[in-house]
Amino acid sequence: MHTSRRAFLRSATAGAAVPILAPRFLDTLERRLEAYSHASPQAAAADEAFWSEIRAAYPTYAYINLENGFSSPEPTPTFEAFQRHQQAINGGLSFYMRRKKAADDAAVKAQLAQLAGVSPEEIVITRNTTESLGTVIHGIDLAPGDEAVMCNQDYGSMLEQFRQQSKRRGLRCVEIAIPLHPKDDRELVETYARAFTPRTKLLLLSHMINITGQILPVRTIANMAHTQGVSVIVDAAHSFAHLDFRIPELDGDFFGASLHKWLCTPLGAGILHIRKDRIKDVWPLLGDTTRAVDDIRKLERIGTHPSWTTLAIGDAIRFHTMIGAARKEARLRYLQEYWTGRVRGIPKVYLNTPAGTRACGIANVGITGMTPKALADALFDRHNIYTVAIDTVAVKGTRVTPHLYTTTAELDALVKALGEIARG
Ligand SMILES: Cc1ncc(COP(=O)(O)O)c(C=O)c1O
Repeated sequence: MHTSRRAFLRSATAGAAVPILAPRFLDTLERRLEAYSHASPQAAAADEAFWSEIRAAYPTYAYINLENGFSSPEPTPTFEAFQRHQQAINGGLSFYMRRKKAADDAAVKAQLAQLAGVSPEEIVITRNTTESLGTVIHGIDLAPGDEAVMCNQDYGSMLEQFRQQSKRRGLRCVEIAIPLHPKDDRELVETYARAFTPRTKLLLLSHMINITGQILPVRTIANMAHTQGVSVIVDAAHSFAHLDFRIPELDGDFFGASLHKWLCTPLGAGILHIRKDRIKDVWPLLGDTTRAVDDIRKLERIGTHPSWTTLAIGDAIRFHTMIGAARKEARLRYLQEYWTGRVRGIPKVYLNTPAGTRACGIANVGITGMTPKALADALFDRHNIYTVAIDTVAVKGTRVTPHLYTTTAELDALVKALGEIARG
């Protein structure tokens, strides 16, 4: 990497420049977007005028940012609301915590539950997916010799939490491989079914595999698991507010997601959903004997934490709803297909992501004869395009994750860069 770029990256201003917006920016934007209310999600997906309105609300970058998989930037209206909440609470901290917080938290929870299509009595606001699913993985009763099935493309923090249960309680972790390009849902269902034994108690399913973007048919696999008496934990870190769905449609037992990814909240916001009849099966990790065993609030005793983050979830939901979940999914898939469609067929370029509705915004690309790191470095150092190298047993390539603010011109630059790098 060039020294100047290293210095740039080390500097406090690297990355995003946040636009300062007029106070009523969001009201105005909501009104302007009404002009598009009759466009179908598919028509809106390709309408650059619509997305340039949205882009104006996001930070701009000194490089082409195609690594939005770590987390999403907050759109500026959410960022500014977050700062206002912090300022207001700081101006009366104890009073807020004792007199107002409970009602505000309940209101945000109700909004989040509505977005997710579930009852507020089935959700907990957490800090992230790791905490949401850890609450279940560590809170559920397991006996030595019980088995949990997961795959080698699931997220490391989840696999690690299961491995810890293995050391502590004698859980057997069965880590399977799943295909990068499944023929059909049946192939995936059968792959999971083959791993089950009479001792299988839990199945971890990633709704959207983070390193490739593959979307698993969670409902179909979960239905099969339930016929074998296996409980299903859904990792929806990347699918929530990226794909247009409601939690019950997945038919899992336990569900966790990070809101700072595709809902674009400030960092440190997540959701845990537990189906009403399963709440009694999860022990609170931090103790709450005062609540009934089937009261989800037993899991909310997490100590003092930043209330302004919780409040900003409400602002993020307003922004998300303004765009519309269906339009967001359609645009993210459009952007992915825009660039993958143009690199398919370039000699030496291969894709680790299935085509069609088995993927949405995230995809992974490799070049034969190049390590993932060499490819990601070449994209950044030579073409100013930021992606992330993925080098695991199962997947080798660089992950490309556009966002709602990505332009097709930026994707043209990616396509051109991949072609040049592949030619050598
Ligand atoms: C599939 C998946 N699960 C879980 C996580 C963990 O998310 P968090 O760090 O917000 O807990 C990630 C993060 O990228 C992820 O991609």
